[in-house]
Amino acid sequence: MQETIEAVWKAFQADLDSFPTDRREVDSLKSKYFGRNGALAKLFSQMGKIVPEERPGAGKLINDLKKELTEIFDAKSAELFYNAESTTENVDYTLPGETQRIGTIHPVTKTLKEIKDIFKSIGFMVAYGPEIDDDYHNFTALNFPQHHPARDMQDTFFIKENVVLRTHTSNVQIHLMENTNPPLRYIVPGRVYRNEAISFKSYCLFHQVEGLVVDKYISFADLKGTLEYFVKRIFGNDVRMRFRPSFFPFTEPSAEVDIWDDKRQQWLEILGCGMVDPAVFENVGYDPNIWHGYAFGLGIERIAMLKYGITDIRLFFQGDKRFLEQF
Ligand code: PHE
Repeated sequence: MQETIEAVWKAFQADLDSFPTDRREVDSLKSKYFGRNGALAKLFSQMGKIVPEERPGAGKLINDLKKELTEIFDAKSAELFYNAESTTENVDYTLPGETQRIGTIHPVTKTLKEIKDIFKSIGFMVAYGPEIDDDYHNFTALNFPQHHPARDMQDTFFIKENVVLRTHTSNVQIHLMENTNPPLRYIVPGRVYRNEAISFKSYCLFHQVEGLVVDKYISFADLKGTLEYFVKRIFGNDVRMRFRPSFFPFTEPSAEVDIWDDKRQQWLEILGCGMVDPAVFENVGYDPNIWHGYAFGLGIERIAMLKYGITDIRLFFQGDKRFLEQF
């Protein structure tokens, strides 16, 4: 028995000297000693042939051998494979990586945040109002007479008689003044709807930011100065802008602001504005002899188009990731 143990030990040492580098060869070497028909199993199987008095001693010898060989073998193969893990042979650099996909902010949301930040920084508060409203708040209180052609300026989606999807955020001017005493200085962001011909610059829904300032001494100079300041902050000092006389039933005088669209080489209207018409103040119970004010309504998509060089307003509403991922 002693001799056989020594023979196994010697063979093992020889194998250690030429220890394989290939995993499969290591595995077969492992079974050569530790497998079910391996050298150690064979030693154990010889126990039966030994005289009973010598069995415990022989058993201990074989067990010690097994323990020693296992320790040496495991250390040797671990050393081999831990080193091998970090070599190029075992890493496939052509496998696709795991990218973490994160969302992006919609350009309308992004532009609205900028607009809000600018107006908040000069003392405006933010308010919201209903998207579905009665004809009175969307039209009548804003000085659109019942059968006046001015109502045709805006092609309206009617929910039912006297109930509309608001065609502009100006309805909130009325709600604000009905519920608040002057002076006031608000912006009102929101979605608006128009049943009009769809084109690169017009869609059946879009977003506006209404502005309303009411105080005792407010003039057209305040309106102009505020909007010029806003336009320069959002587009930069080199922006080309112009005020163009216009008409709205609820402001007098009225104007529109155009921005030069470098991409299209033409002016693009971004807002309507004017001094609050005294008739509107009367409709909400403000004394037009004491209170004066200005109002404006910005188109958020139009501003985003100019800022980001977007040439078609419909892109904002299609949810195309190739478009959205750019923001
Ligand atoms: N509500 C007008 C529009 O949608 C814009 C506007 C708002 C004009 C406030 C004057 C004052 O076209």
